[in-house]
Amino acid sequence: MKTGTLRAFVFDAYGTLFDVMSVEARAEALAPGQGAALARAWRAKQLETTWLASLMVSPGYRRPDFAAVTAMALDYAVASLALPLDAAEQAALIAEYLRLAPYADASSALDALAPMPRWILSNGTRSMLDPLVAGSALAGRVDRIVSVDEVDVYKPSPRVYALAADQLGIAPSAIGFVSANGWDAAGAKSCGLRAFWINRSGAPVERHAPAPDWIVGSLAEVAAIAAMH
Ligand code: LAC
Repeated sequence: MKTGTLRAFVFDAYGTLFDVMSVEARAEALAPGQGAALARAWRAKQLETTWLASLMVSPGYRRPDFAAVTAMALDYAVASLALPLDAAEQAALIAEYLRLAPYADASSALDALAPMPRWILSNGTRSMLDPLVAGSALAGRVDRIVSVDEVDVYKPSPRVYALAADQLGIAPSAIGFVSANGWDAAGAKSCGLRAFWINRSGAPVERHAPAPDWIVGSLAEVAAIAAMH
């Protein structure tokens, strides 16, 4: 499929530009032998909580923001694995979210896509995302950071993807949306964006939604596909 009409690129943050599993080393230091299990359980509960929270929004239930969700999910994961991590140790793990490592090919891929707009569209709060990007090699390479907080619902609500298209002022079909989360790529594709799924782990394609336009293994491949057209 041709990228010919693509005029902007929108990226997921956690797990796509930034490696969330880099918290694993810190988790391993705090809970020897359980770091990988804790990182996995934490991330899974974090995402599950975003979906639950979006469904539950009502006059009696206010959506917790992603900072709160991240803390709740860690507390749950710690309890589920019966780990003896106190509040200070949990705070140290959460602090890792502000200094996640970008993937090695993130900077060069973003450089290659310029001068097209390169935006982040994330579940994260601006208070989480702004320092993360500013303190990383991606500073100056991301043109705008958009948080789902602007529409008060988490991905994959269609309101989130429409927000990016509306703010870019570009038709969804001319926007490349890049995510390493298959369900996120599926959400964007369902809203008419052109979806790149970075399938770094060789996971099966989601069954509940249309397949992404491109399935790639790295950010470098996204830039290469964009350059070919
Ligand atoms: C985000 C999550 C889905 O950055 O990774 O929005």
